[in-house]
Amino acid sequence: MVAFAVPAKVPSTRKLTPTQPQKKTNSMPKVLHLESSPRGDRSASITVAKTFLDAYKTAHPGDEIETLDLWHTAIPEFDGSTIEAKYAVMHGQKFTPEQEAAWKTVVKIADHFKSADKYVISLPMWNFGIPYKLKQYIDVIAQPGLTFSFTPGVGYKGLVTGKPLVLILARGGAYGPGSGAEGYDAQSTYMKQIAGFLGFTDVKEILVEPTGMNKDEAEEKGKKQAVELAGKF
Ligand SMILES: Cc1cc2nc3c(=O)[nH]c(=O)nc-3n(C[C@H](O)[C@H](O)[C@H](O)COP(=O)(O)O)c2cc1C
Repeated sequence: MVAFAVPAKVPSTRKLTPTQPQKKTNSMPKVLHLESSPRGDRSASITVAKTFLDAYKTAHPGDEIETLDLWHTAIPEFDGSTIEAKYAVMHGQKFTPEQEAAWKTVVKIADHFKSADKYVISLPMWNFGIPYKLKQYIDVIAQPGLTFSFTPGVGYKGLVTGKPLVLILARGGAYGPGSGAEGYDAQSTYMKQIAGFLGFTDVKEILVEPTGMNKDEAEEKGKKQAVELAGKF
């Protein structure tokens, strides 16, 4: 993996250290559901996610569940001052006022992400990978000092640790074990890779496939798995 260059002497104003974990004001565990299909009720990934969350709510009636619909959430473009702010952090440089403001927004979104105790991400496969809204959200929250750290000699370390993640992966074709098309599945591969990079070690998957052949059957199979997993989540 290519490491970002970090100067030997990092100015004291800007260190690559993790932010303090957010102190929760209540003790109710929170599940954050990232919803990344734009198809609403017609979406296979959302349908299975709803079954998962309903079963979870039954098993944990006191817990909070927050669904973030990424298609109706303002996610900043990762360009201009925002990208320069990231590089300023990586290189231990001071922010310009514009970078400071852009970074504030990034920190707010990353802090919100980190405020959860458990995660559910439901997503369709798009062109073998993930929808661009989810990728944009990941590009915003995957930040040095916020969700991962880099220390020369030590390397990268994920900072979102000790929290379980369930991925609900809908796809038109079949890419699961034994399908012969496993190598085309950049959806599952990427999600597991980035989750691992950010610190997740407990990652489970529900494959909702092949929705293009038999959507009802794929959803039913996914829902069954969702109910089983939700009870142990
Ligand atoms: C833009 C786009 C690209 C897609 N690319 C693929 C693909 O590469 N492989 C595949 O099997 N299905 C592909 N599909 C089909 C979806 O993965 C499938 O319909 C899935 O059930 C969508 O999930 P959703 O119902 O939760 O939106 C694509 C669909 C769209 C809209």
